[in-house]
Amino acid sequence: MGHGLGLVVESIPRGSFRNAINAGLPFLTGCLGVGEDVSTGDDLGSMMCNHISRLFYKPVKILGYQRQRINGNWKFYLENLRDTYHASLLHEFLVTFGLDRATQKGGVEMDERHRHNLTYAHAGSDSDSDAKEAYGGHEINNDKLKLLDSRLLEFRQEYADDRNLAISTMFPNASFQQLNNSLATRQIQPKGIDAFDLIWTYFGYTDDDVDMTNHRLRQLNLFGPGGLVSMEDAEAIEIAHKATYAEERNTTTVIEVGGKGEISDRAYRVNDVPIRGFWSYYAELMDIEPAGAFR
Ligand SMILES: [Fe+2]
Repeated sequence: MGHGLGLVVESIPRGSFRNAINAGLPFLTGCLGVGEDVSTGDDLGSMMCNHISRLFYKPVKILGYQRQRINGNWKFYLENLRDTYHASLLHEFLVTFGLDRATQKGGVEMDERHRHNLTYAHAGSDSDSDAKEAYGGHEINNDKLKLLDSRLLEFRQEYADDRNLAISTMFPNASFQQLNNSLATRQIQPKGIDAFDLIWTYFGYTDDDVDMTNHRLRQLNLFGPGGLVSMEDAEAIEIAHKATYAEERNTTTVIEVGGKGEISDRAYRVNDVPIRGFWSYYAELMDIEPAGAFR
């Protein structure tokens, strides 16, 4: 395949693979045995192609890598990334400093079969009073708390739109993120049913100056594995995984996903539709789809 990756496939028939280049990114795709391929340029859909093209609209440079072990099932991570409004409930830092709130203008988009999703929000699209009303008595943008270095919160607009948050999952195991000015890809590598590794690749653009590169790296104190925000995602997944791990292997824990009806894009942030989209496709893929289920 192109781009000098040097991939050698020896044990899988050539015919079962095809590759595609999207926005300069090479994709290598295997057939999953259910009569269709996933994650090729053809199958990404316009939503994912637009998201990738937006992030990779000019040459990038790699800023670093990190590997993070999370002791939970890998599917929890996909749920986490598809859960639009947990950020403003779980992540106290985001709410307090107004970085990510359910009252922002934003929404969720998916491809036709809900394999991939995008969560987005627009910068400065709500006010403190909007948020105070929505969150009741919760302290929003608390005047008592100030950061010594406010650059941690700074958003420098660098795209044609004003989105300060655009993060996707690409079925089954990748994510492309823009969180303020923190850019990264995340790859999920399952390590059995009880653990997975997250492989983080941080990037910027080749024409970034030193100040911009430092700005991107600084924001990893929020959005990297040990960041004030993302650290909580790993912790929440481990807690949830323990809670659903039945002591008796012959028992089952069921957590009903809220909401019902059509699985479709929404132009608002308070919804869990992409999670239902994931399970809809996963159930079909695993041949465990209930009769009459929504797709
Ligand atoms: Fe989160």
